[in-house]
Amino acid sequence: MDELRVVPTADGTSTLYSERFNATYHSVNGALTESMHVFIKSGFEAVLHDKKALEVLEVGMGTCLNAALTAWDAPKFGVKVHYTGIELLPPTLEVLNSTGYQTVLEPECAELWVKIVAAPAGHPVPVSPWFTALKLYVDFISWIPNQRYDLIYFDAFAPDDQPEMWNLESFRKLFDALGPNGALVTYSAKGMVKRNLRCAGFSVERLQGPPAKRHMVRAWKTPDH
Ligand SMILES: C[S@@+](CC[C@H](N)C(=O)[O-])C[C@H]1O[C@@H](n2cnc3c(N)ncnc32)[C@H](O)[C@@H]1O
Repeated sequence: MDELRVVPTADGTSTLYSERFNATYHSVNGALTESMHVFIKSGFEAVLHDKKALEVLEVGMGTCLNAALTAWDAPKFGVKVHYTGIELLPPTLEVLNSTGYQTVLEPECAELWVKIVAAPAGHPVPVSPWFTALKLYVDFISWIPNQRYDLIYFDAFAPDDQPEMWNLESFRKLFDALGPNGALVTYSAKGMVKRNLRCAGFSVERLQGPPAKRHMVRAWKTPDH
C-alpha cells in the first residue's frame, strides 16, 4: 500500500502526501481553496447552463473532496449528478478520516463526504437525491470508458510526477469519452499539457489559477468535433 500521511495546507484544510509519488493530493496553498476554484467554480458551475442532469468523471478521486463539494453544490443549481470517480490506490478509511474533513467541512458537505467515502466501489450508490457515486478502483491507463461524460475533473499527480497520465493517448481517450460541448478541467497549465490537449482535439482555455498558481486549464470539446 502506498505510504500516505496527512499534511496541513494554508487555508486550514489538510491534504494527503504520497511517499510513492513524492507529491501532495492538493496544493499546500489551500486544499479546499484549490478544489473549489479549479473543479467547482471553473468546472462544475461553468458547464451547468440549464442542465438538469450531469455526468461527471473524476480521474484520481483520492480523498473524495471534489466529489463531496460537487454533491454539496448540485442542489443549489437543481442538477442531478451521476459521478464516476476513478482511483488506482484508494486510501484506507483510517487515512481518509485522519484528514479531518468530517469536521472541517461545512456540516452538510461533511455529511456527504462521509457517505461518499463509505460507499462501496463497483456500482452506483445514491448518496443524496441529487448525487449518485460510482467509485471505480481501476488504473486509468488501461481503463476503457463505456459511456459519455459532460465534465471531467482531471486530478492526476503533476505531469512531472506521472507523465503517462498527461500524454496524448490519455487525452484522446478522455476527448472521446466527452459528449458534445463537454469540458475537462485541470490544475496544470504546463505547455506540454496544453499541447497534448490541443492535439487530442480540445479547445484550450487558460484561466486564472488558485492561490500561488498563475494558471489552470479548461478544455472544451466544441461542437464541430
Ligand atoms: C492529485 S491526487 C488526487 C486528489 C483527489 N482528487 C482529491 O481530491 O483528494 C492524484 C490521485 O490519482 C490517483 N492515481 C494515480 N495514478 C492513477 C492511475 N493510473 N489511475 C487512477 N488513479 C490514479 C492517486 O492515487 C491519487 O489519489
